Amino acid sequence: MNDTFLKACRGEKTDYTPIWIMRQAGRYLPQYLEVRARGKGTFLDLCKDPARCTEVTLQPVDIFGMDAAILFSDILIPMEAMGLTLEFQEGRGPVFPNPIQSEKDVEALIIPDPTATMPFVLKTIKLLRAELKVPLIGFSGAPFTLATYLIEGGSSKVFLQTKKMMFQAPELYHHLLEKISRCTSLYLQAQAKTGAQALQIFDSWAGILAPCDYARFALPYVQSIISDLRRMTDVPIIYFANNGSTLIEHTVTAGADVLGLDWRINIKNAIMRVGNHAVQGNLDPIALFLPEKDLKNRIKKLLEDARGAKGHIFNLGHGVVPQTPPEQVRIAVDAVHEFSVR
Ligand code: CP3
Repeated sequence: MNDTFLKACRGEKTDYTPIWIMRQAGRYLPQYLEVRARGKGTFLDLCKDPARCTEVTLQPVDIFGMDAAILFSDILIPMEAMGLTLEFQEGRGPVFPNPIQSEKDVEALIIPDPTATMPFVLKTIKLLRAELKVPLIGFSGAPFTLATYLIEGGSSKVFLQTKKMMFQAPELYHHLLEKISRCTSLYLQAQAKTGAQALQIFDSWAGILAPCDYARFALPYVQSIISDLRRMTDVPIIYFANNGSTLIEHTVTAGADVLGLDWRINIKNAIMRVGNHAVQGNLDPIALFLPEKDLKNRIKKLLEDARGAKGHIFNLGHGVVPQTPPEQVRIAVDAVHEFSVR
């Protein structure tokens, strides 16, 4: 097995800088669109089909030579298992038609047993481990990010309902977050037990919070999940707080091995502030639209800037966008491998 990615997560010396990219299995790949169309059904049906999930997870590894695979699923799958109705509407993204508004709604949420309610995820992990020659990353959403979808009923711009609940009904908010955290903790533990070799926690919306609110309403739940995980597994844990450069003093206390960085911060500057952590990132996803020469120079500079890190996993600063030409991804992966050889 090529374990360069795992070594970089642990801050051990590697022969080169490993790369994978967030949302690497997805709509920018014609091969993904082909599998998605096959078997018909919705995106959620795809997430519940281990054979097709396995196939699309392998695609970016086989096509580009990524140094890690990320399980094909979605952060909202366990929220459906908690008893909520979830829909993915074309052009609108995820929708929860019955958002969480009251104590009664929170009471009704169940803490699902992952083996009983999400067997398709665990089955996919098993199938993938039998195939993969690179490590498999499992993942979840962070409780705060998950809560925004449940409270807003979908994606949001100003997060009015979420912040109103925090400020006006903090007990209700904390009760909801406790239940989501319990569910997430069990879900990640099940992934590790089944064979996930690293775990990433996506806090996609952390950056919309003031640092004082992040410290009270988001961070403690990430800390509690990670401390649960530490009791049962030593798989590396990556915490990605998107738009989180204003939160680094807090995110370093989450307990993760690796901090994911978005592109809004210079990686050198971030490395000085992350202490004893490896870092993952942080090319602007839209930099993949640069002309080849400029893209390569940009990657070379990023690798140089990251040299002082305890460990560096090359990634984008957020997910690859669907319009990205796959050829540009190939150029980026090859450039990282070529320029980082030690
Ligand atoms: O390759 C991979 O990264 C693995 C699969 C993966 C998906 N979603 C598949 C997906 C992962 C790791 C996610 C995480 C996820 N899902 C996040 C956190 C990462 C981030 O981008 O901030 C969030 C916030 C979600 C929730 C979600 N799922 C949204 C908001 C949307 C709609 C927006 C969009 O990108 O379309 C999805 C749908 C989704 N999840 C798709 C894929 C491939 C597109 C669905 C399709 O094929 O039509």
